[in-house]
Amino acid sequence: MNTIEMGDARILIKKVGDNSVSAVYFDPPFKTGRKFKLTPSSDIGFDDIFANDKDYIALIEPIIVESKRALTKDGSFFFHISAAEMFIPEALCRKHFDFVRPIFWKRSRSKNNIKNKLGAVTDVIFWCSTSKKPKFNLVYQPLDAYYSENSYKNKDKRGNYALGHIVYSKTQKAKDENRYYEFTIGERSWNPQYGWRVDRDELQRLLDDDRIHIPLKRGNLYRKIYKHESKGKPATDIWDDIHSIAMGSESRKYPTQKPVSLLERIVEMSTDAGDVVLDPMCGSGTTAVAAKKLGRGYIIFDQNPDAIKIAKENLK
Ligand SMILES: C[S@@+](CC[C@H](N)C(=O)[O-])C[C@H]1O[C@@H](n2cnc3c(N)ncnc32)[C@H](O)[C@@H]1O
Repeated sequence: MNTIEMGDARILIKKVGDNSVSAVYFDPPFKTGRKFKLTPSSDIGFDDIFANDKDYIALIEPIIVESKRALTKDGSFFFHISAAEMFIPEALCRKHFDFVRPIFWKRSRSKNNIKNKLGAVTDVIFWCSTSKKPKFNLVYQPLDAYYSENSYKNKDKRGNYALGHIVYSKTQKAKDENRYYEFTIGERSWNPQYGWRVDRDELQRLLDDDRIHIPLKRGNLYRKIYKHESKGKPATDIWDDIHSIAMGSESRKYPTQKPVSLLERIVEMSTDAGDVVLDPMCGSGTTAVAAKKLGRGYIIFDQNPDAIKIAKENLK
């Protein structure tokens, strides 16, 4: 069952069952010392002012501890923070979780009105887990322009294609015995010293489907990777393809609101359909919107009545 509740997340989160949520996305105030408002004249927003580090830790550490309790064994906890404020969150994430991997989100391309400092465009999302191998689904980013232009140079009747490795090399040998075999095409044979990346049946299937690049003279066989079939590149830990919601844009209903596409990537990569996602300080409810879109359940809290109202509207 989905839940939206107003109140202090440190109290509400205690009601979430042990081992019951597959992912937690935590995007608290960052300790910037600012008051965030939707517009200068609006009341919609929240204060991000803390007297000292101790007060800030008193807000975020109980959420980290309770999230860990509520997570499934292969669950993931995501702590979203600006690069400038990352020190305390990173230390706490490392204190409570065994595995902490930073994801760098470049939230805008440039800051054109900056004159006397570097434009701050980077947030960090600490991806934390107790399991070495948390639940993970491969997600994709658009191909790099340079790669896209230069890699699909070969062409056949299907279209342009790049060359994908189908044999192992010295640095990474095949582990299974059935990956060491001789493969014959016409008068020519290949028997790679470090093994094939696919078994014989799969290689034959690819050949029958004209998906194997055969070199004219000497050289390895390659798998054809067609440009028109590409989903993009497997996502890296630098996310520079999702842009923050511009100030003053129509879709921006709450200050510091995150784009749904950012949460879709996080939810998709860390959970399966039917799993439940928790966002203890949900603001405009972006996490729940992404979860609903992807067929996941959600539990969201915020102490700001305006945020809860906006989240409910966004979920309609
Ligand atoms: C950075 S915003 C979250 C923005 C959200 N991710 C979005 O996309 O709209 C942080 C939120 O934390 C909420 N908050 C701060 N302290 C809280 C507390 N003790 N309990 C619940 N919510 C809290 C604020 O009201 C604010 O909405």
